[in-house]
Amino acid sequence: MNAGLESAAPIHKNAFSRLRELVHNPISLVGFVLAVVAFGNFLFLFFIDLSSQHPSPYIGILAYMVAPAFLVLGLALVPFGVWYDRRKRRQHPAEPIRYLHVDFNDPSQRGALTFIFTFVVAFIGLSVVGSYKAYEFTDSVQFCGQLCHSVMAPEFTAYQLSPHARVACVDCHVGAGATWYVKSKLSGARQVFATTFNTYPRPIPTPVHNLRPAAQTCEQCHWPKKFYGAQLKVFTHFASDEKNTPRQIRMLINVGGGDPATGAPEGIHWHMNISNEITYIATDDQRQVIPYIHVKDHQGRVTEFFAKDSTLTKEQIAKSPRRLMDCVDCHNRPTHIYVPPDLSVDNSLLAKRLDASLPFLKQQSVTALTANYPTTPAAMQGIAKSIGSFYESKYPDLARSKQLEIRSAIDELQRIYRNTTFPEMKLNWQTHPNNIGHFYFNGCFRCHDGQHVSPDGKAIAKDCQICHSVLSQEEGGVSMAALQKVSFQHPIDLGDMTQVNCSDCHASGGTQ
Ligand code: HEC
Ligand code: HEC
Ligand code: HEC
Ligand code: HEC
Ligand code: HEC
Ligand code: HEC
Repeated sequence: MNAGLESAAPIHKNAFSRLRELVHNPISLVGFVLAVVAFGNFLFLFFIDLSSQHPSPYIGILAYMVAPAFLVLGLALVPFGVWYDRRKRRQHPAEPIRYLHVDFNDPSQRGALTFIFTFVVAFIGLSVVGSYKAYEFTDSVQFCGQLCHSVMAPEFTAYQLSPHARVACVDCHVGAGATWYVKSKLSGARQVFATTFNTYPRPIPTPVHNLRPAAQTCEQCHWPKKFYGAQLKVFTHFASDEKNTPRQIRMLINVGGGDPATGAPEGIHWHMNISNEITYIATDDQRQVIPYIHVKDHQGRVTEFFAKDSTLTKEQIAKSPRRLMDCVDCHNRPTHIYVPPDLSVDNSLLAKRLDASLPFLKQQSVTALTANYPTTPAAMQGIAKSIGSFYESKYPDLARSKQLEIRSAIDELQRIYRNTTFPEMKLNWQTHPNNIGHFYFNGCFRCHDGQHVSPDGKAIAKDCQICHSVLSQEEGGVSMAALQKVSFQHPIDLGDMTQVNCSDCHASGGTQ
């Protein structure tokens, strides 16, 4: 076999022995094998990266950072081995040069070679399987939500309790396609570094400025042209009185639709940008203060709205960056929903996980939940103490006869706290404003406050009927008779409701 090779390729002999000389030292050999394995892995990851529909941002780290790093290291080891070997030989010139000598006629060498060959193939195979498993793992919800456990605990917890609990993080945060892909890859790498070196911000800020446009995430599942019509919503509250009086509002929310082909573009989803285009300028980071709105309808007619109290000049408006309104400007909390304390308590009372027969339970629960605790364990103790001592001091008989109910109320409140408040990440329900509605945060009233007017005097409406109509309203199970005018009756008289900002009083999430 040796003879055949030499006679068939005499010209290559020189180059061939050169190559042999290069890799005859163990360091170069290791470097060479490492480079081959790394290259194999890179090719494989690159292939998944191109072909998979929902690539993970972290595959980028493996394919374009980890694998090339090993490739470069391997390639660098080859010349280093040669240099090191030459130096050694110069220092000990007497030692003969020993080339790797392979003789296939020798059965023991044949055995050893077969072994080495099998080993190398198996090693490459296993490392490819390993990197595929690593890829699958980085794509998973566990990786995003649990590996960086304390960092993402709030987002992960809220997500698990949301309507999107079965939608993978990457479906909203990464999506498919080239540019966003690279962007999220880079930010993914940054996040890994920030977590490793503990430099991440607490809480993680919103809005996520490099969140992909909703058209390429939300709209992959929610067909924006679907006409939603109206949606019935029932809001149940419990008053802060001794009897925890229930108050119920049933309203038809005028969701409407955005596409002329499936129905008139009207109602709330008129903003969907199908037959119009809305852009705006926000002066704060959380997009809560909006001094300027620009509307272009399907015929290209432009209407501009200016906040009456804004001090922005024409030049500043021309220069400021504009945001194109999309789903996330209203649905900015589709899955990381940090439920306000009074709403959590209302929900638990409604679901009978809290016993509404305990006097002042609503009020006391909200007080216990909104107190300031340094850590979660401190909160668990604080809640137990706050509720326990209230009933022991104010209702000592009840504290004994309803021991069990009080105990389970404490358990429930502790559960609520753990799901909505994260002192370790400095996050509670107030950290990220929720822009749907106008009860706890300004939300729709950021623009619909009656104070944004066009030059010809048209205001963005705050009329209580344009977004919803009240179907019925009850207090303590009794229908509020005066309701024939289908508008909302506030428990205490506030005069003209369009002149107030609900969040001025309700933003505390409980004790008004
Ligand atoms: C249904 C879509 C959706 C899914 C699924 C989703 N997110 Fe989000 N995420 C969002 C939106 C929308 C925002 C807020 C963007 C904004 O306000 O600009 C956000 C914000 C965040 C933030 C910034 C902090 C915050 O609370 O606003 C983090 C961190 C985050 N998500 C992590 C995750 C993780 C981890 C998962 C999976 C366990 C996940 N997300 C799943 C849509 C989603
Ligand atoms: C991978 C598919 C998928 C993606 C991506 C997705 N959603 Fe959803 N979404 C769903 C499903 C499924 C439901 C219904 C859940 C249910 O009713 O159990 C839903 C429900 C909703 C609802 C109704 C929630 C409720 O309380 O009933 C809203 C609003 C919504 N999504 C908005 C969004 C927004 C905004 C985004 C982008 C940030 C988004 N979705 C991204 C699949 C998705
Ligand atoms: C102007 C704010 C706004 C914009 C923009 C917006 N929505 Fe909505 N959407 C709402 C409101 C308000 C509701 C009523 C539900 C509620 O109050 O929780 C709703 C309801 C929904 C529902 C539930 C409908 C039903 O009948 O169950 C889905 C799904 C939804 N929106 C998806 C989207 C998607 C996808 C986009 C982007 C293409 C979008 N929305 C843009 C405000 C908005
Ligand atoms: C960025 C500013 C902005 C925000 C935020 C906003 N809107 Fe609007 N909305 C507008 C503008 C501008 C118009 C058009 C006003 C006009 O032409 O008279 C409008 C019109 C509407 C209309 C009337 C559509 C029609 O039938 O003609 C409804 C309903 C509506 N908005 C609901 C909402 C709801 C609900 C929210 C909150 C979830 C919301 N909007 C948030 C800017 C906004
Ligand atoms: C621009 C649209 C818009 C206007 C104007 C508007 N609302 Fe609403 N309102 C909403 C939306 C959207 C919700 C539902 C929020 C949600 O799904 O949690 C809501 C919810 C409510 C609720 C139930 C809140 C709760 O959590 O119990 C009440 C009460 C209410 N609105 C009263 C009013 C009154 C009174 C006015 C007039 C001053 C008004 N709304 C004007 C969009 C609007
Ligand atoms: C001046 C402060 C103030 C403003 C502004 C205000 N509220 Fe209230 N609201 C209260 C108080 C106080 C209560 C509790 C009354 C009670 O328990 O008897 C309350 C109770 C409610 C309730 C019953 C829920 C509960 O927990 O008992 C609803 C719903 C409500 N308000 C909606 C609104 C809406 C919608 C707006 C804006 C249009 C608004 N409020 C503006 C002070 C205010």
